[in-house]
Amino acid sequence: MRHAFKKKIIYCGLIVIALIIFLHPNMNGRRTYDYIEKNNIMVNLHDRIAQNFTSTAIMDCDYRDILFDVTTMSVSLMDGDLIEGHKIKDGGEFYPSECKPKFSTAIIVPYRDRAEQLRGFLVYMHVFLRRQNIHYRIYVIEQVDTKPFNRAKLLNIGAAAAFKAGYPCLVLHDVDLLPLRPANLYACTKCPRHMSSSINKFRFVLPYLNLFGGAIAITSQQYKLINGMSNEYYGWGGEDDDLYARLEVEELKLCRFEPEVSRYHMVAHQTQRKGERKHKVFNYAKNKVNEDGLNTLKYTEVATVLHPLFTHIMVDL
Ligand code: UDP
Ligand code: BGC
Ligand code: MN
Repeated sequence: MRHAFKKKIIYCGLIVIALIIFLHPNMNGRRTYDYIEKNNIMVNLHDRIAQNFTSTAIMDCDYRDILFDVTTMSVSLMDGDLIEGHKIKDGGEFYPSECKPKFSTAIIVPYRDRAEQLRGFLVYMHVFLRRQNIHYRIYVIEQVDTKPFNRAKLLNIGAAAAFKAGYPCLVLHDVDLLPLRPANLYACTKCPRHMSSSINKFRFVLPYLNLFGGAIAITSQQYKLINGMSNEYYGWGGEDDDLYARLEVEELKLCRFEPEVSRYHMVAHQTQRKGERKHKVFNYAKNKVNEDGLNTLKYTEVATVLHPLFTHIMVDL
């Protein structure tokens, strides 16, 4: 009798373990996927610098060394300080002085109430980015109202600021993601690129092929073509899937760098409350591209402050 009971418990245990394994989201994930081979990255880059940006350097910057750098950055840098004499301009803008950069990138970070993460992000990113010999500026777009968080609308607002400053390339970036490989160049490719395809949170597996959230790079021209992101996603989730659907409408195919290069560390945080699901998100997105996005963007700018490491735009949605 006792033996039979034990057996039952073992069977139940096994069934539960099997269910956990098969239903876990990472089961459908992939460690590999189609990507641009290292040797082909240079020809796939969108080399443009910002209008009204001029460099006094004579030589063009070279990007081969960084693209073939196989080292890993240490996330403990987050707790450090920037070395002195870092040459970062107020507003968080940087460009190398020894060579002419080929790329200008606006890094746009949607933000609210994660001061500790933001501080770590800024220190880490400036150290990381300075080595890449690109021209860049970090914009932090903060939602100051108490409505549910709206990541996509904040990204649209950041994009509008970047267009004004003439940036040809946008990197839309969560504040809790830290790129681990110096070879992950923060420049646009000709194809919209999903950058964070290998994150510790997902055990370095890409959860699904159409994932287009976390950190992405897209040219300003492409972002305008798809009318930016939807302004209607309040609360967690779905807005990045909606963005993917917009790419499909315009027949823009996304691309990635190899998993080794696309590794990110996500700083631990609590999960946000889920937003209202836009049912059949793909149909929703596809019917709304021209009615919801950059062309319908409305908000109140509360203040814009140029801090030593970032441009801080505070908005009321
Ligand atoms: N975010 C924020 N404050 C919030 C919620 C979100 O700053 O209260 C920003 C932040 O940049 C964050 C991103 O939105 O990294 C995505 O949110 P979250 O990290 O919660 O999403 P997940 O990691 O689950 O994709
Ligand atoms: C959500 C996305 C999110 C992804 C990964 C999906 O279910 O719709 O917004 O980025 O999961 O967490
Ligand atoms: Mn996160």
